[in-house]
Amino acid sequence: AMLIGALTLFAYLLGSVSSAVLVCRIWGLPDPRQHGSHNPGATNVLRLGGKLPAVLVLLFDILKGTIPVWGGYFLGLDPLALALVGAAACLGHIYPLFFGFKGGKGVATAFGAMAPIGWDMTGALIVTWLGVALLTRYSSLGAIVTCLVAPVYTYLFKSQYTASVALVCVLILWRHRANILRLWRGTEPKLGQKKRPAE
Ligand code: G3P
Repeated sequence: AMLIGALTLFAYLLGSVSSAVLVCRIWGLPDPRQHGSHNPGATNVLRLGGKLPAVLVLLFDILKGTIPVWGGYFLGLDPLALALVGAAACLGHIYPLFFGFKGGKGVATAFGAMAPIGWDMTGALIVTWLGVALLTRYSSLGAIVTCLVAPVYTYLFKSQYTASVALVCVLILWRHRANILRLWRGTEPKLGQKKRPAE
């Protein structure tokens, strides 16, 4: 129980490190919480600063999920404890201790936390997100559709994680409520598009 508690806390603290804010600061880019979609995530950094900083943010945010879950797996934690650790990483990213509890939407970190479920899961998530995002040019729609099917994939590949994956997906969908409204109204900016059409 000590180990689970320590790893859950570590996951939350690591998740709380906003790589979008830090990369933008280092790169001399505007604060992603105050520009573009106001979201500290890779999509918004792509909008504000282009591909290289966005890829870095994506990578770091994915690792924030993968490192603690993978660590827990190698330390022999059971599925429930691993789910707790993965959820804690996502909660850290979404409600970060170090950034006034105003974080991102959790897509990359959740993907990183779910990847250790297996290569089948990882591949299915990537193909779904990339397929939707590249076909429609909406990053948010890629995340929304992936969240809807991720619990199904989990049930097929490793059913013991279905409930925890579904829970995280519901939280991510909730974080996309403004995106859903913009998609509905046709005002959501496309991938890499600098300015959002007038709302
Ligand atoms: O990963 C977040 C993405 O789905 C939407 O980001 O900046 O377009 O709200 P953004």
